[in-house]
Amino acid sequence: MERLKTRILEEASVLNQDVLKLDGLLNHQVEPELTIEMGKEFARLYAESGITKVITVESSGIPVAFATAMALGVPLVFARRKKTLIADPDAYMERVPSFTKGIVTDIMVSRQFLKEEDTVLFIDDIIANGDAARGLIKIIERSGAKLAGLGIVVEKSFQAGARTIREQGIRVDSLVRIKSLEGGTIQFESE
Ligand code: G4P
Ligand code: NA
Ligand code: NA
Repeated sequence: MERLKTRILEEASVLNQDVLKLDGLLNHQVEPELTIEMGKEFARLYAESGITKVITVESSGIPVAFATAMALGVPLVFARRKKTLIADPDAYMERVPSFTKGIVTDIMVSRQFLKEEDTVLFIDDIIANGDAARGLIKIIERSGAKLAGLGIVVEKSFQAGARTIREQGIRVDSLVRIKSLEGGTIQFESE
């Protein structure tokens, strides 16, 4: 998505060589028109996949996941995050470490919203090390639902998350891939 690249160059700032601040587009403010366009692109990529639900993890994945669900005409499920969770027999839970935040959270999806007969498209805003993504993938696997793939807005391809998920044989589609933030410069992968 060329327009997304343009908006990232205009709005984002490089915090350090690992972190791109995207508050103006993904993490604090969202642009409805651009977000709707992202959703349409993911819907186009997965039009033939028989998606029955879109799924994400709160909070920053929700707007683009909503746009995707709208474009596909299916419900959106967002996994909840809690600091600590009491075991709940009616929910799937996974403990997720956050490398950047240095904390551990539990993500939770109620069993009633994720069923064996579902085919799900997992949407997220950013993938770095992929810890949260791996947690949700485990939940999807345990539910027996089929995972069609992951749609990611910004993949930081210099970190291992997307690569290791692809190596598991899971489809990952990223709207933009960033290969480096070194020297304070955003470098996109050329394809
Ligand atoms: P991972 O999930 O890929 O392993 O990433 P990590 O633990 O390192 O990231 C923790 C949080 O930081 C995630 O948000 C992730 O989206 C975000 N993050 C990682 N790298 C960047 C970056 O370069 N720029 C920005 N803006 N965010 C980054 P989260 O905890 O899921 O929170 P939320 O934003 O969804 O509420
Ligand atoms: Na985030
Ligand atoms: Na996210």
